[in-house]
Amino acid sequence: MKVIHNVSDTQIYLRELRITSNKTIGFIPTMGALHDGHISLVEQSVKNNDITVVSVFVNPRQFNDKSDFENYPVNHQRDLDLLDKAGCNLVFLPSADDIYKNFVGFNMDFNGLDKIYEGEFRPGHFQGVVDIVYRLFEIVNPHKAYFGQKDFQQLAIIKLMTKLANFDIEIVSCPIVREKSGLAMSSRNLRLSQEQFKNAANIYKLLIVIANKLKVGDDTDKHCQYFIDEIEKISDMKAEYCVFCNPESLVSVKKINKNSEIIMCVAVWCGKIRLIDNIILVF
Ligand code: PAF
Repeated sequence: MKVIHNVSDTQIYLRELRITSNKTIGFIPTMGALHDGHISLVEQSVKNNDITVVSVFVNPRQFNDKSDFENYPVNHQRDLDLLDKAGCNLVFLPSADDIYKNFVGFNMDFNGLDKIYEGEFRPGHFQGVVDIVYRLFEIVNPHKAYFGQKDFQQLAIIKLMTKLANFDIEIVSCPIVREKSGLAMSSRNLRLSQEQFKNAANIYKLLIVIANKLKVGDDTDKHCQYFIDEIEKISDMKAEYCVFCNPESLVSVKKINKNSEIIMCVAVWCGKIRLIDNIILVF
């Protein structure tokens, strides 16, 4: 496995593989602190492409909370060992100065998608995500890029950006990988205490309880209220939002219709750690 830090060396290396050697390239952008969720994306890419590239970069532009950025877990050696084992071919590990040097940005009309749900509580977050993913797509120029469904809104926004920027890249969305307890894997789980880690499993448990109760014609607000009330009964936990929406357009859904696909999305504080999760429901 090759590790490159420099932007232009990465571009030259990958251009040669793509154009001269005619290799297909799969790409997984990450912020490191890798877990089995990331590794499942790498394994998917290894299956589908000749070359798998992973970037590891904690992108300062997407953190609206300074302490979240400062406390974001970093362990490059562990990440590199995991990536090597998973069959990754190239790790791109840039510095902030190099990656954003001469970057003019991509001016995108989000059509309000960046202001709702996650965007309401994390102002500027999605512009930061679009900045880095756009820049990484320019540098890596992959055939396919892999993202987890846990970040449902990020996925929708990246699909829109890819279309608006005319990138010829297939965005592949991959299922959420969970701990044995059902808790969605996240780099932020590393910052939970043992008790918080145990309590956080209730997020998914409640999503399942609600999924089993839901039926056509139901008013979704009442199910969200149930989720919020149940979370608040657990020590040190507080729900930030609960929403049912269309998985593609993200338009909120107030009533369950027959033959519809809906995603129920939640954000929950566990002490000072913010976790998100979701479940796709088909009626
Ligand atoms: O999902 C993430 O880890 C990040 O938002 C991403 C896509 C790597 C951009 O920094």
